[in-house]
Amino acid sequence: MLQRDLRFARPCASPFPGAHERFNARNPTHPFMSENPAAPVKVKFFSGEDIPLELHKVRIVQKLHLRPVDERLKAMQAAGFNTFQLTTMDVFLDMLTDSGTNAMSDNQVSSMLRADDAYAGSQSFARMEAAVREVFGTQYVIPVHQGRAAENVISRAFIKQGDVIPMNYHFTTTKAHMEISGGKIFEIYTDEALKIKSSFPFKGNMDINKLKALIKEHGAARIPFIRLEASTNLIGGQPFSIANMREVRKVADQHGILVLMDASLIGENAYFIKQREARFKNASIKDILLTMCGLVDMIYFSSRKVSSTRGGGICTNKKDLFLKVRDLVVLFEGFVTYGGMSVREIEALAVGMYETTDETVISQSPSFIAYLVNELDRLGIPVVTPAGALGCHLDAMGFLPHVPQKEYPAGALAAALFIISGIRGMERGTISSVRDDQGNDILADVELLRLAFPRRVFTLSQTKFALDRLTWLYKNRELVGGLKFVDEPTVLRFFMGRLAPTSNWPERLVKQFKKDFGNSL
Ligand code: F0G
Repeated sequence: MLQRDLRFARPCASPFPGAHERFNARNPTHPFMSENPAAPVKVKFFSGEDIPLELHKVRIVQKLHLRPVDERLKAMQAAGFNTFQLTTMDVFLDMLTDSGTNAMSDNQVSSMLRADDAYAGSQSFARMEAAVREVFGTQYVIPVHQGRAAENVISRAFIKQGDVIPMNYHFTTTKAHMEISGGKIFEIYTDEALKIKSSFPFKGNMDINKLKALIKEHGAARIPFIRLEASTNLIGGQPFSIANMREVRKVADQHGILVLMDASLIGENAYFIKQREARFKNASIKDILLTMCGLVDMIYFSSRKVSSTRGGGICTNKKDLFLKVRDLVVLFEGFVTYGGMSVREIEALAVGMYETTDETVISQSPSFIAYLVNELDRLGIPVVTPAGALGCHLDAMGFLPHVPQKEYPAGALAAALFIISGIRGMERGTISSVRDDQGNDILADVELLRLAFPRRVFTLSQTKFALDRLTWLYKNRELVGGLKFVDEPTVLRFFMGRLAPTSNWPERLVKQFKKDFGNSL
């Protein structure tokens, strides 16, 4: 404690009397920890308008490119109708993902300068370890180069051929790694999870009865762990509750099964718990995070999301679990004090961890998402509700009911939106799925177009632009047709695959755009 206080103490008398004391009083544990732990972040407008407010100022900017519609069509054709294949020179609002694209804070960027370039025993790692210990409450911390690296190491360490892994929902890379290791995943979500329109606050919850039945059917010995994914990505960034976590924990303890948490989107899940779970409405984000982490045996994360950097980590309080993954990290990632990450990113990760406890930081992305989702819903445009984390999720089957699912409506919607706006979203539907043994598409449970809101990147007028173009596209939805694969990789095909439209619908869409917008970009 004393050491930490000294490390961050200001060295000499301040020209502003009292500033030092105020600084420390507001930050009892760390300078970058939340200033007002339990007070909810709410700003009301006199006009009564319910809009999100940016609680930060812009200090570094990047020029964006909003190309004319004909050029956007050409760019989409060159990209094989796959938004992953676009270059940012052609993209206006890059809503592909929040992974590694969040705005860093001034404190994060400045921390990178003091990074300690050592292969082993770096001080940068010591600062990351201290931050993760404090924010997640875990003793053992290992960096890895990104989230899927943690999935690789964990899958190899824990999963044997024929094992069964229950989870609230899969993530693409998680499923791929666990299956390569011989595991079979079972998604045991609640009945509400896949309903597009819902007011259920915790669509990321696990169905406890289904969990019990699964354990009974397969036997605890075949279940290496239960996986809980915070702010469940593929069903629309939907959180689980602490009450549900406690029930999962109880069942796991009855059968001696481990519980693992994918904490890539844990900050937002904690924010939703504060907003939606009555027992926690007066709790600080820090306490909610510690409560969540205290209910699981091992945590892994992509720090491209949580902490707004580029890397990842695995952490636990159990030495035996730590030892199981440690040597695999050395083999696949690098020495345990850098794990494939740059020390600069490790420094920024440490600061970003503390900042995750700050509600003014962690509320930003969800409040902009909520604005867009609620406006779309009000206009009758099909969108996943309630608003979740990560992005706004449009229901492509509701948006384009005339496009059969085997013609990939979510991919078609992503392509159409880019052509008419320069906005790049991500298909989260059947293109992101796989084929069965006979080579037929396994149709996704839901066909979503995700418009990600990287943390603190987009402004309200940019959000309104997205709303405006989506409204126009919805009015002209009959013009949008389907897609088919012309080049299909066998693994994670959505990243590198190429598709083509099933008719000349993109040209017809452009014609209508020009008719309605003239020479507007
Ligand atoms: N787990 C979850 C819940 C994720 O959302 C991601 C990545 C990963 C693991 C893998 O982490 O990319 O660092 O290797 N999601 C990104 C996305 C790719 O766009 O949603 P990674």
